[in-house]
This record gives sequence, structure tokens and C-alpha cells, in this order.
Amino acid sequence: MNIEFANDVVEGLTSKNKQLSSKYFYDDTGSRIFQEIMEMPEYYLTDSEFEILSLQAKQIIDAIGFNQPFNIVELGAGDGLKTFKLLEYLVNNNIDFYYVPIDISQGAMDSLTHSLQEKLPKLSIHPQVGDYFEILSKENVKTKIPSLLLFLGSNIGNYSEQEASNLLQLFNKSMKVGDGLLLGVDIKKNPKKIHDAYFDQHGITKRFNLNLLNRINNEFDGDFNIEDFDFYCYYNPISGNVKSYIISLKDQKVHLKKLDTVIEFKTNELIWTELSKKYSLDEINELSTKCDFKVVNHFLDNKNYFTDTLLVK
Ligand code: AVI
Repeated sequence: MNIEFANDVVEGLTSKNKQLSSKYFYDDTGSRIFQEIMEMPEYYLTDSEFEILSLQAKQIIDAIGFNQPFNIVELGAGDGLKTFKLLEYLVNNNIDFYYVPIDISQGAMDSLTHSLQEKLPKLSIHPQVGDYFEILSKENVKTKIPSLLLFLGSNIGNYSEQEASNLLQLFNKSMKVGDGLLLGVDIKKNPKKIHDAYFDQHGITKRFNLNLLNRINNEFDGDFNIEDFDFYCYYNPISGNVKSYIISLKDQKVHLKKLDTVIEFKTNELIWTELSKKYSLDEINELSTKCDFKVVNHFLDNKNYFTDTLLVK
């Protein structure tokens, strides 16, 4: 049994304001549904970042200006699709570098390695499986050559401001002076555009959220009846927070047999599942400097929806 998940489920579902962490969305089914989300036209984030890395790879690499072999360390690489264009540019221009993707999923790392070896046979790839918090916390993580860390896909948005700041400071501590961090951040924009990306018409994001209840049923022998729950989310354009919730549609009790726990729900009671935070460029600058980074440049897509911001220690 995954003890951390079990503890978080019991604590999160028995507290006054129920919550479950979005980090648990990604079992096999959840990862497949997230893939569907990334393919939805409403979820502009994927296309925007793909455009930045396709059209501005040279500018990004020139801006970091390493004049010796370097590492590209991708934190939470997943399927690595968004990074492909950057890697392709480097390989095609005979730039000397090592690609070090890090991901918690062995399966994701195996298939990424396999597909990159096929598409970019000259690429020097050194995958690492594990939690990037743990890998970066290790003392021996610093290598002699410079590194460019990649934290893409607006993953930073799934952390509260305080957590984001802690995370950037952890990255900073693991870096050498002159190392870079390319940070993918979704920018505040017309609130309707953001609303439509998360409250999608086809209900894919709803399925993504409710899958968490299926996961709990599977792992802890629970009896959540998925039909008795719904999904709600809203965007607050001032704070930049998209908050997602699961709603209980009736008074009900759910038994999690393996955890020996019964959870009671009232009609319309909420479980908070996810924060997807949006930033202004000024807010990114403020957060970055607070965490001891220098902001080199914001690389934006043509619509100014998304930035890959280059930070240097
Ligand atoms: C992974 N993460 C950056 C996504 C986001 O936009 O917050 C997860 C997601 N949740 C709903 N749609 C996509």
C-alpha cells in the first residue's frame, strides 16, 4: 500500500474542509486523461509552449550562453514531447550536451528513452527515475559542467505561492552560479480563455478529477459511486488561481475498507483537488528575484499566453 497516499486520503477527507492533492491524479488512467487534456484545443498551454520551444530554441540557448558542454536536466519530463524541439535544435546544430530527464515513473522514462533514441540517435541521454525533490536534495547532484534545468508545462502553477517559492529555492540550492532554469509559466489573460481551458465543454477535466475517486476505490477498496459526484472549478482573475473541486451530490457515506474508514459527505460538500495558478510577468519577476535568481528573459508565444522564463543563478 502507498502509505503517504493512504495518510493523505484519510487526513484530507476527514478534515473540516475536505481536500485531496492533485499530485495523486496521475495513476495510469489519470496520465492518459491528462494526455487527452493536452490535446484539447481549449487547453492552449500545450500549443503555446510547443510554439515557444519550436520557434525560439536558438534564442533560449544563445541567451544562456554556455560555451562548453552542458547538461539539460528536465524535472518531471513525462513524455518529453514539449522538450523535443529544443533537443532537436541542439542535436542538429552539433551542440555538445547531455540530456538528463528525471521522472517518478519508470514507464515514462523507458518510453521517452526509447522514442528519443529512435528520433534523435545522436542524443546523449541519461534518464533518472525518482522524485526530483529527493534527487535534487542529494549533495552529489552538482556536476562540474554547467546545467540548464527545465521545469516546464506550468507545473509551478500547481503549487501555492509559498510552496513555489520553497521549490525555486530548492532548485537554486542544487545549482551552481551561472546555471540556468527555464520555467514554464501560464500568464494571466482574458479570464474566459482560462475558464474554458479548465471547465471544458466535453467534461474531460471532470473525468480527470473524478478518476481520483476511482483510484481511491481501486487502491483502498472503497465504494465511491462516481455518479453521485460532480466537478466544479473557477478562475479568480485577481489572485490568478484556478481552483478545482469535486462536489458531493447527496448526503452519503463512503467506506474505504482497506483503511478502515468511513467518510461522510453532506449534499454540495466540496473536496478541493487542485490549484492551477496563473502569474503576471511582474509576479514572476518578483518570485524569481526573491528566490535569488536573475531574470534573463521571458520567451513568450505569439499570443502572449505563456512564457518560458529563463532564470540564472
Ligand atoms: C500539470 N498541470 C500543470 C496541469 C494544470 O494546468 O494545472 C494539470 C491540469 N489540471 C486540469 N487541467 C490540466
